[in-house]
Amino acid sequence: MNLAVIGGDGIGPEVVAEGLKVLDAVTGPGVVTTTHYDLGASRWQRTGEVLPDSVLTELATADAILLGAVGAAPGATDIPSGLLERGLLLKLRFAFDHAVNLRPSKLYPGSVTPLSPEVVAKGEIDFVVVREGTEGLYCGNGGVVRAGTPAEIANEVSVNTAYGVERVVRDAFERATRRRNKVTLVHKHNVLVNAGGLWKRVFAEVAAEYPGVTTDYLHVDAATIFLVTDPARFDVIVTDNLFGDILTDLAAAVTGGIGLAASGNINPTGAFPSMFEPIHGSAPDIAGKQIADPTATISSVALLLDHLGMHDEAARVEQAVLADLSARTGHRPTAAVGDAIAALV
Ligand code: IPM
Ligand code: MN
Repeated sequence: MNLAVIGGDGIGPEVVAEGLKVLDAVTGPGVVTTTHYDLGASRWQRTGEVLPDSVLTELATADAILLGAVGAAPGATDIPSGLLERGLLLKLRFAFDHAVNLRPSKLYPGSVTPLSPEVVAKGEIDFVVVREGTEGLYCGNGGVVRAGTPAEIANEVSVNTAYGVERVVRDAFERATRRRNKVTLVHKHNVLVNAGGLWKRVFAEVAAEYPGVTTDYLHVDAATIFLVTDPARFDVIVTDNLFGDILTDLAAAVTGGIGLAASGNINPTGAFPSMFEPIHGSAPDIAGKQIADPTATISSVALLLDHLGMHDEAARVEQAVLADLSARTGHRPTAAVGDAIAALV
């Protein structure tokens, strides 16, 4: 396996080191070859480069990418807001056609959750958000007129193509057949009539091909209520890019926190490498202190293994994470968590 590694900024390199430790332990020696790429705030500060074309071309040849986090400390530099997010993270998602942004949430026994015991007792909390990753409000489609004047108009126009919606909805149904056979579409088609209409129609068309899968629809505001009052009702949620961004932070918060939340940016055809990353950011306030939880990165490694067809190895990492979480007592250093999980795979 040729793995491209982007540790990035803040706690990124620390948590990625633990992900690689577990990856090596589960695959055995000589299976994974890593190439490290120096990208992120510090490179930009040194060279003014965010993601040179030559690096993008090289990354395209990897089997997969493991990414830590990007983003400088607020106020620490003169780095323009969003430069790294759009120039690096989103650029990779768009360039490598990461249509499916996969974000599983599972409440492990022993995890700390703000959910009430009554809510937890309703059933197993184990769902996956299939977030569209290449369209919607993330495309940079829009502009500003009369900037800086009292008459300024600022537009961001959401892009939704039948092609893009269909492939992500199809992925959600396929995934549901390997899980508990239920897909919930989340949108806001009572207000967003154009995009919502397209999502609704495509969802119904694809659903007709999967008679064994139960379907459900929630407006996004109602979905936030159910994520807190009855998350056990969800199996697969499919939604657009921005709704998915917001819902998955909430999903992480109710299932043990952002330190556990993994993700995969999947290229559905395999034409480009898929990219795996913890959902959390670079957390510059705790960088270098060995206190960040690497579990989200380690679980992202499980998603990576699964995506590359190494299902047994993926399951072993998942089991090891589960065992480690169930045995957790106090806070351990970042590397100690990695050591413990690596010893369990
Ligand atoms: C995420 C992040 C990114 C997003 C940001 C950093 C651009 O919040 O991966 O969820 O909005 O997709
Ligand atoms: Mn986010």
